[in-house]
This record gives sequence, structure tokens and C-alpha cells, in this order.
Amino acid sequence: MSDLKLVVQRVEDAGELIREIELASADGAALPGYEAGAHIEVALPGDRHNAYSLIDFSGNAASPETYVLGVRLEDEGDGGSRFMHGLRPGDEISASGPKNHFPLDGGDGPVLLLAGGIGVTPLIAMATALAAGSRDFRMVYASRSAAAAAFADRLSGCHGDRISLHHDDQAGGPVPVADLVNGADPETHIYVCGPKPMIDATRAAMEAAGRPEAQFHAELFENTSHQSGDKPFEVEVASTGQVITVPADKTIIEALEEAGIDLIYDCQRGDCGICQTDVLEGTPDHRDVVLSKEERDSGKVMQICVSRALTDRLKLDL
Ligand code: FES
Repeated sequence: MSDLKLVVQRVEDAGELIREIELASADGAALPGYEAGAHIEVALPGDRHNAYSLIDFSGNAASPETYVLGVRLEDEGDGGSRFMHGLRPGDEISASGPKNHFPLDGGDGPVLLLAGGIGVTPLIAMATALAAGSRDFRMVYASRSAAAAAFADRLSGCHGDRISLHHDDQAGGPVPVADLVNGADPETHIYVCGPKPMIDATRAAMEAAGRPEAQFHAELFENTSHQSGDKPFEVEVASTGQVITVPADKTIIEALEEAGIDLIYDCQRGDCGICQTDVLEGTPDHRDVVLSKEERDSGKVMQICVSRALTDRLKLDL
């Protein structure tokens, strides 16, 4: 569903392979307000949608005049980023939202924002929101190089030494997230947005340190549902006995919907938790970032938007 008509107002290079795209209302309707962490879903050619987080440096998210996105050109993506990089001022697009699967908790404890690459975009709005209040926060922004660190100068300009930059090429490797977790006050809420290895390492460090699950918040900035070497497998629907083949290039949700089964889901990236489904038989291949280690190890639940199967068949409680 697309309910926003938007016109491209400004396009700028924001970093290596990264475009900043500013969108205004195309039909004069006021743009809906949003909270830090929210995204819109842009309609792409071929009846597809991609989610892009809303960047807010201004503090006007409650009544925005424009929406600002940061889009990285992905070689191996589904073409969505290529479409977005092809946009020019005056082009019109449709979108839905804003929605927020990655909100700030309502507490007053310290906050650590961990950004990996283009995963910085929702955390920019969080930094703006936190700076307007009294909550203690800092951000560690990791990128492959200084050239790839989009928005870093503006972040440092706005928030000074609350922003720490980590460039893998200069540091000789990825940001040591376990050290960051262990060095943070035990009450700290950690918000991580970036590639899956970074999110997994953060969750593992928090679990190892005995930090409560409620203090971990993640949003994934890559689609993990398809990987090279993926094979077809079968899903048995427990309520009907129907057996559906999930091809290598489709998700469980896509295959089941094509078979006429109604499902409830949202993000389709493995980070909102809505499509969680009980597994009655078989072994899931977990690719989400919402389940805890204990839940994954149990093999009894899975996110059917991205996760697949390690066995030839899964029997799901649907
Ligand atoms: S739809 Fe969000 S985790 Fe599956």
C-alpha cells in the first residue's frame, strides 16, 4: 500500500556509493510526523518496496517539511538501490509509512548507539532526539573507511565528542563491539544497526555479559533471506497437512502466500519479530536478528520472512 506521494527535492552524494535524497510532499498534503528509528517503504518498479530509515538532523521529526533518506548503492541488491540512485530532483515516487520497528525505549538510562555503515541512518535521528533531552548517550560509527562514513562530519558537528568514528582500514579490522559492550555502564541500552555480523556480535557480547534482553535493540541493514548455495525445502502446514515447496529464490512467506495461505508479517528483514512461527518438526536455518541465542538453540521458533531450513522439511504451527 502506498499512501504518500513524494517528489524528489534534492539529491547529493553523501559518501562513497551513498546518496542523500530529500523528499517533499508531491500533492501538498502535510507529511506525517515520525519518531526516531522510523522508516518509510518506497514503492519500486515491479510491485516491490524497500524500507529506508528517516534521517533527522533538524529535530523537526514531529512535523517534518521533508523526509531525508540515505541510500547505499548495493551491487548484489534487488535493484532497489539502483532505482533510488537514479532519482533526480522533480521525480515523483510513492511510499507508505512512516513506521517504526526500532523505537527508543522510554527510559532514562544511558544509551550507546552502534552504527555499521549505512546502518547509521536511523541512529542519526536517535542522536538528535537524545540530544534534545537529558539522557546520556554516545555513538560509535563504524565504516570501512573515512570515505564511506556518510554523514560523519555532520554528526560530529552536532554532537561533538559523543560521536566516535571507527574506520576498519585504519584500525586494521572491525570495531571491537565486545569491548564497547563490556565498557558500557550495565544499565546502558544498546541500539545497533548495521550488517548482521555486527548485530550478532553485539547480541553475543550482551548475552555473555549477562545484560538484560530488554536493553538490546537491533535493526538489520541487509536482506539475509537469500544466500548463495540456498536450496529448496518443504514446509508442512500443521493445521491442514498441506506441503509447500519453498524454492531457493523465494522466502517461506512468499511460497506460502503463493499457495494461498494468509500470514501476518511486516519488516520482511528479520528484525521486527512479527512473523515469528513455532517449529514443530525440522531444523530452522536462523537468519533473523530478533531471536535470543536460547530461542535459536531451541529450534522451536523461527522468523519465516528470512530464515530457511537445514532439514529437507519443516513442520510449522500454521
Ligand atoms: S516480518 Fe519482521 S521479523 Fe519477519
